[in-house]
Amino acid sequence: MALSSLTTRISQSGPWRSFFRHGWPDNPLDRSLTMTSNIFFHLHPVKVSRRSLRWSYSFGLGVISAILFGVLIWTGVLLMFYYVPSVERAYPTMKEIQFSVPLGQFTRNMHRWSAHAMVLMVILHMARVFYTGAYKPPREFNWIVGVVLLLLTLGASFTGYLLPWDQLAYWAITVGTNIAGYAPVAGPPAREILLGGSEVGQNALIRFYTLHIAVLPLLITLLVSLHLWRVRKDGGLAANET
Ligand code: HEM
Repeated sequence: MALSSLTTRISQSGPWRSFFRHGWPDNPLDRSLTMTSNIFFHLHPVKVSRRSLRWSYSFGLGVISAILFGVLIWTGVLLMFYYVPSVERAYPTMKEIQFSVPLGQFTRNMHRWSAHAMVLMVILHMARVFYTGAYKPPREFNWIVGVVLLLLTLGASFTGYLLPWDQLAYWAITVGTNIAGYAPVAGPPAREILLGGSEVGQNALIRFYTLHIAVLPLLITLLVSLHLWRVRKDGGLAANET
């Protein structure tokens, strides 16, 4: 049997139709349906230029940032099974994670290195977007969403820094929040709200923890979804137009 008639018969069979809901993608209609009916392909527009698919156009920096965020959520949830956000127990539980919990050291390092890498990748992604002029119309809105994502990513990094409650964490956050406190008008109340008082203590630890494990990841998840949806609605990457 010729290959084309075999593929036609397979693509018209009941199970194939219930899984894929389109024929064999050897014509423009079925190729379009392949894109629109698949949850992963659906992230792309039906038609993209060859140039935008080239690795060297975006270096996949946005995708890498999103993958690192996924790694951070996964390893963060694992760390939450052991970490206790109290000034008496935070440091001992970190040591417990490192030295007694199976794969604890590995999980903690994955979390820490992915956080550093995500900050770096997001900045490089932003530089790539700027370099390729992809912030221009109609993508200004997505650029602004991106700027907020950068701030949230830095916020997640900053709030996570306090959690080990070691000397480095304590003094870094003391210095960081003192600097913020010097900003005119909004500085002192912002510092007070962030610390839940006038110095780095239990209130600050619980506030940083809540921001770090709930508020910021939730906002990043929502905004990354909006960001990707906008890339799709703006017709894929800007390479399609240049
Ligand atoms: C959590 C941080 C971020 C994630 C996960 C993310 C994710 C992505 C992804 C997956 C894409 C598709 C293309 C690619 O992989 O390069 C993209 C495109 C884009 N991103 Fe981001 N992004 C983030 C932060 C930013 C920042 C900081 C900016 C700029 C301030 C930005 C602006 C844009 C724009 C304008 C596009 C469209 C690019 C084009 O059409 O060529 N993003 N982003």
